[in-house]
Amino acid sequence: MVRGYTALLPLRLASLHKLCREIDTLSVPGDVVECGVYNGGSAALMASVCTRSPLNRSVWLFDSFEGLPEPTEKDGDKARACGWWCHGDLSKVRTIFQKLGVPESCIHIVKGWFQDTFPSVRTGDIALLHIDADWYESVKLCLERFYDSVQPGGFVVIDDYGHWEGCKKATDEFLRNRSLDVTLTRVDYTGRYFQKPLKPAQAQM
Ligand SMILES: C[S@@+](CC[C@H](N)C(=O)[O-])C[C@H]1O[C@@H](n2cnc3c(N)ncnc32)[C@H](O)[C@@H]1O
Repeated sequence: MVRGYTALLPLRLASLHKLCREIDTLSVPGDVVECGVYNGGSAALMASVCTRSPLNRSVWLFDSFEGLPEPTEKDGDKARACGWWCHGDLSKVRTIFQKLGVPESCIHIVKGWFQDTFPSVRTGDIALLHIDADWYESVKLCLERFYDSVQPGGFVVIDDYGHWEGCKKATDEFLRNRSLDVTLTRVDYTGRYFQKPLKPAQAQM
């Protein structure tokens, strides 16, 4: 159903779907945040599960809806040569949400550049953070802004780890700087996710 509204391949969509169920099974509290929405396909898939959760989740969507910013030298030559597009269309986002019967009241769409919108938005606790923003600076901003709100046992999904070198660099740097000893689970050639460690007392339960 979301094909035509997403740049994600089926394996990564299936993995997102599984993780949306997993946060319910594990009773991880909090909302779902997606940074990098494009035409709304992955967001609608997550929202179709999470807005029906007994844990009353909302979905926060962050995007410029004006395409990607320019890559920097940290993204490497491949990124700088590609002229990558990804200009999302808000009317398509609304259409796919309606098609999947997702109630608008559960969705917060925050349009604008991350560096402008992140400082003033308060999302609260996060159970699942989906980062699909391609470039080094964008991925770094997402991790720095939202990781601390991800609840123990919640998941961080990095869509472009294997595809764009800047994304890998930003993720590896963040994990190293925070001394986070997590396992990056491989979804396909590019998608990865990790689970935020449980607090020691929770892990023993
Ligand atoms: C690959 S697309 C997202 C694909 C989407 N998840 C899907 O299901 O197809 C990347 C998106 O990230 C957004 N983006 C990247 N960096 C951004 C930034 N610094 N501020 C705002 N939006 C950004 C772009 O506008 C683009 O829509």
